Amino acid sequence: MLCIGHRGARGYAPENTLASIDLAIEQGATWIEIDIREHSGDLIVIHDKYLERTTNGTGHIYQHDLATLRRFTSENNQSLPTLKEVIKHVNRRAVINIELKDRASALPTITLLNELVSEGWKNDDFLISSFYHHALRDIKEIAPQYRVGALCASVMIDYARFADDLDAWSINLCSESVDQALIDDAHQRGLKVLVYTVNDPRLFSEFNAMGVDGVFTDYPQRFFEWQVQEK
Ligand code: G3P
Ligand code: MG
Repeated sequence: MLCIGHRGARGYAPENTLASIDLAIEQGATWIEIDIREHSGDLIVIHDKYLERTTNGTGHIYQHDLATLRRFTSENNQSLPTLKEVIKHVNRRAVINIELKDRASALPTITLLNELVSEGWKNDDFLISSFYHHALRDIKEIAPQYRVGALCASVMIDYARFADDLDAWSINLCSESVDQALIDDAHQRGLKVLVYTVNDPRLFSEFNAMGVDGVFTDYPQRFFEWQVQEK
């Protein structure tokens, strides 16, 4: 089962910062997940629309221009990175799951990834996911070569059929609402199943036994300790 560092290693360092991402990779994660939002045509790495929880700024991100936003810092004194900075910084040390927090970020993300692929990055260095499935469809229409993961927070009536229609690579499911029927249906359709956010070692064992392909965790180190004990 794959370990995906959630917002880097947010259990150990402020989320969605370069330091958090580095820590996840140092701890052994070969995949990391980050959240992005579109701002003035650029892409910034932040989970919330509002700044207070994770930075020393206040208000909605759109209340500030990009230059001002970039001056706000997180608890570890790091500024909000752009998606391009994260990708260049990671420099293929890990696969990056880019979670789109809005539909507007879909096309600028493709423009950026195309530019980076022309510089030597590979399509498989990325997985683009979103709860906004229209954003994923936008991506598949213009750039079917990129992998997309459909985020869900329930067990759907038609199980994973919608993701098949979307030509998704994975369904990314909430740990609170996942069952064996959905996992099996997804696998029969050739989809990967990733589950968020899993921090309890007992749940690592449960999901592993259910055949889950990967978990998003705030604690990559804890995951790898669990993995050693499982063997
Ligand atoms: O991508 C998995 C997970 O990050 C989705 O939820 O709210 O943590 O972005 P959230
Ligand atoms: Mg996320």
